[in-house]
Amino acid sequence: MILKMLAFLVMLAASAAATNQDWHPAVDSVLLSQIRENSPADLMSVSNGAPVTYCEVNSTLNKPLIRNAFLMDHVTSMDRERTSGRTLHNQGSGAFGYFEVTHDISHICKAKLFDEIGKKTPVAIRFSPAANEKGAPELNRGARGFSVKFYTEEGNLDLPGLNMPMFFSKNPLKFREFVYALRKDPAVYLYNPMGLWDIIISNPEALNMFLLVFGDRGIPKTYRHMPGYNIHTLQVVNEKGENHFVRLHFTPDAGIKHLTSAEAQKVAATDPDFYTRDLYDAIEKGDYPSWTVSIQIASEADVQSHGWCLFDITRVLPINDFPKYPFAKIVLNRNPKNYFAEIEQLAFCPANLVNGILGAPDKVYEARRFAYADAQLYRLGPNFEKIPVNCPLHVTEYSDSYDEPVGSQATQNAGLLKIKEEEPYNLDQAAELYENEMTADERARLHKTVIAMLTPASSSVQQKVIELFTSVHPDLGNTIAQGLNAR
Ligand code: HEM
Repeated sequence: MILKMLAFLVMLAASAAATNQDWHPAVDSVLLSQIRENSPADLMSVSNGAPVTYCEVNSTLNKPLIRNAFLMDHVTSMDRERTSGRTLHNQGSGAFGYFEVTHDISHICKAKLFDEIGKKTPVAIRFSPAANEKGAPELNRGARGFSVKFYTEEGNLDLPGLNMPMFFSKNPLKFREFVYALRKDPAVYLYNPMGLWDIIISNPEALNMFLLVFGDRGIPKTYRHMPGYNIHTLQVVNEKGENHFVRLHFTPDAGIKHLTSAEAQKVAATDPDFYTRDLYDAIEKGDYPSWTVSIQIASEADVQSHGWCLFDITRVLPINDFPKYPFAKIVLNRNPKNYFAEIEQLAFCPANLVNGILGAPDKVYEARRFAYADAQLYRLGPNFEKIPVNCPLHVTEYSDSYDEPVGSQATQNAGLLKIKEEEPYNLDQAAELYENEMTADERARLHKTVIAMLTPASSSVQQKVIELFTSVHPDLGNTIAQGLNAR
């Protein structure tokens, strides 16, 4: 047994040596290869490279352990191996691939990643159940993150979005209570489903998004069948300095598909990590998931005619007024080699923008610009942007009098539009979604889900929720009331 373990550890050490870089800042390459040739590369070593004796590996009895460098390496590296998890979207899976321009949108946006049809930009994507703790079954009902990092020639562009085209609130002050309502109750460390009804009752505008969560969208078939939305209306600028306001959609080429609650429970019972496994396996066998990227475009004149509701993130931009133009593809073709290094430490921030993309003028976006980097300073430490997966592809950090980098010639953007945030109103869109966009079958599944979720609630909570659903659509309120009475 001991020999087997030793052989395994030797194999690990050898594979680590094989991945060493071929250069070292302190030594020229000829000397380096001589040292490497003379090094006992097939022996285990401690962190300074010194070989470990057989005795150190196998026996701790009757020895001062503090002097066993091998043991100390083991213990201290394990003690410090974790970073604090994300405060939300803590569970997740990810992969790498490319973004490819298929249609020209350079008349709308001057960002270099869009400047040529056929141009490819590397991307990292992370998918994440919004409220899950690590280790929870991935297939529970809820919104999911769909975050894209573009490693562009002008720096990293991050678009952390969701699989829903709208958000529950347009007020950043509501965000913490929402997150806490979805988490486990701190007193008993159990989920309390009543927290969600509280949020919906005090923020009726949340219903537009939750109709989707309670409907089929709430449990995607796989991440490969899940759409993504940046939600916010981003301000972009072209070479002439003209502004446009855009929403981005990522539509899976495999189709948007879902599981019913019963199907999901069945899968989760045998494979709680089903989404992660499915994504990994598909990429490993060359069945690369892909998404068509489309853009909805509004002009300054559209903002004047439609008003500030174009920036309301609890609403969608109506497709009839703002059609979707497909302009790019995203293909995921590489799995992480090391989940911790490449996915756990991956950090997205809405403030990471590139020339030509100014961000969104709404208040939630403004709050998010600050919140993500603040969270990452805590979760990953002050040098989180130097972690390889977060590093831009081109970075000039250092200047001296011999080799001074010059400032970019890019023209300055005008500032973000100043918008007036109005009280949220989206009942018209929720009604449209329920009546015209959901099929009769989906509506029936939605009723069933809501009735099951509301059954344990007190009758006063049930009554308030029924009133809200009735204000969306009388059929919705009545069917739920009848279903609850029948129980
Ligand atoms: C005031 C509103 C919001 C605040 C304060 C906020 C804050 C945060 C924070 C602190 C994180 C963890 C970041 C990390 O540790 O790396 C996070 C993650 C995330 N948020 Fe938000 N968020 C807000 C709204 C939104 C909205 C509107 C969306 C969708 C458009 C969104 C999508 C995500 C996603 C997808 C992640 C996971 C990113 C990843 O995969 O690493 N959040 N959010």
